Amino acid sequence: MELDQKIIMTNFMIDDEIEKVVFKAEEISDRVSCIGQAITKDYQNRNLVLVSVLRGSLLFLADLFRQINLPVVIDFMAISSYGNSSKESGVVQVLKDLNESILGKDVLVIEDIVDTGLTLSYLLRSLQAKQPLSLKVCALLDKSARRIIDIDLAYKGFDCPDVFVVGYGLDYRQKYRNLPYIGVLKSDVYYQKD
Ligand code: XMP
Ligand code: MG
Repeated sequence: MELDQKIIMTNFMIDDEIEKVVFKAEEISDRVSCIGQAITKDYQNRNLVLVSVLRGSLLFLADLFRQINLPVVIDFMAISSYGNSSKESGVVQVLKDLNESILGKDVLVIEDIVDTGLTLSYLLRSLQAKQPLSLKVCALLDKSARRIIDIDLAYKGFDCPDVFVVGYGLDYRQKYRNLPYIGVLKSDVYYQKD
């Protein structure tokens, strides 16, 4: 390589690929704190188990968990209802089941977003079969415009507009989960190969 030849490095920031912020980091944090306080009040003297649905609800769980002032247990499930794209495949598959028994426990499912409700409906049926004392849902985002199956959300962060959102755990092809806010991607991102 010639000495005067320069390797041009372009700084790439995932922020640059966001068209619009839908929910700011501060708004999310305030809302998560309110939900944490409500859960603390509602689950006094109960055996609360938070079941987090990987991977999207990871950030929500981590923040919410620290706002619940109770001796709470966490467990994880992974269910896939979409492939690696934003298009619905209709396929629901358990990729990882719970580690602990929830028999006789008060279970609260922590979800990132409820869209058609198909994933959660499947998940709730499978959890109900494990005979918890109670089974409720806490979802950060409610995209109710696209609901196919009615789901009762005991706790809800925000009503989400009918757009594909990323950030704060939510992904597009497994990326953008680490954005501290929730936003909409620029349309050209969907035409990129990687
Ligand atoms: P359903 O339709 O079964 O789907 O309620 C819920 C799951 O679909 C994913 N999902 C999204 N992921 N941005 C995402 O990053 C979105 O706007 C979005 N809408 C649905 C998500 O995994 C959720 O758990
Ligand atoms: Mg999810």
